[in-house]
Amino acid sequence: MSSISRIGILTSGGDAPGMNAAIRAVTRSAISQGIDVIGIQQGYLGLINSDFKTLYRRSVGNILHRGGTILKSERCKEFRTKEGREKAFQNLKNHKIDALVSIGGDGTMAGALALSKECGTPCVGIPGTIDNDIYGTDMTIGFDTALNTSTEAIDRVRDTATSHDRIFIVEVMGRDSGYLAISVGVAGGAEQVFIPENPVKVESAIEHIQNGIKTGKKSHILITAEGKKPGRAYDLAEAIRKKTGWEPKICILGHIQRGGAPSAQDRILASRMGQKATEALIAGQTGIMVALQNNSIVAVSFDEIVKNQKRVSMELIELAKLLSH
Ligand code: F6P
Repeated sequence: MSSISRIGILTSGGDAPGMNAAIRAVTRSAISQGIDVIGIQQGYLGLINSDFKTLYRRSVGNILHRGGTILKSERCKEFRTKEGREKAFQNLKNHKIDALVSIGGDGTMAGALALSKECGTPCVGIPGTIDNDIYGTDMTIGFDTALNTSTEAIDRVRDTATSHDRIFIVEVMGRDSGYLAISVGVAGGAEQVFIPENPVKVESAIEHIQNGIKTGKKSHILITAEGKKPGRAYDLAEAIRKKTGWEPKICILGHIQRGGAPSAQDRILASRMGQKATEALIAGQTGIMVALQNNSIVAVSFDEIVKNQKRVSMELIELAKLLSH
């Protein structure tokens, strides 16, 4: 018999399509084992404010196909402090919540790690972010949907770029990671991709475009990850304009990439991860994130995740370059 009779679940950080599918999977897997599920609103902030509601089978009906998160999400500064986490722990105790499932990005996993270490609360994480930048998992929930959304946008941009023989700079999300940008670059056939992990000089991008023009290319799509602050596409366009007199058009995809119905792939991944996360807690596991590796759902320790950084695939970077000529 498991010692767990009530689990809490929250979504934290930037939302991602498929989070609802994960909430549904955790809720229904837990209820089928006789365990109560408490939804915590607004991530760790709701944990500090005791913003709780019981989830039933029917509470998670009709959400599998919806983007966003029914539990809402926040980036909570107070939870980064020991006092904040102590408050959260007391609330968990007062509401007899024995264990926690946290869905989100690397900040969310770091929060769960701190809570499990300092307060002893059993915690299991589920990776959900459009950035696909969490170490230890091949794929995060939301990445596939965001990639499809961005690729569709690039296809549309390409139509008009081709009609007018224009240069476009398309900015995609990804503060610290170029995973989405490089993947969209390959999927959308971009001429150049700018990512934080593999900086490209404007001069070499210009040279690349000039070489393309010599071989008959008339329109060009450059993709950039937003980097530290959205709007990087404007700086790039200005640098190119100054050096060449060309007038690149700009398209910033922004939060459009975070919304929308999750792809079938994300729904399946979220359902698999949600069920495994619940199973792990029932089996007494803690301090781990469920992860996709070689198409299997495995457990990776929080320690390993926070100590390591996921690298953008060099293979994709090389492929994007090779195919852009
Ligand atoms: O981490 C997910 C993400 O969408 C990043 O790609 C982006 O840089 C950031 O969140 C934007 O955060 P916010 O919605 O808080 O502006």
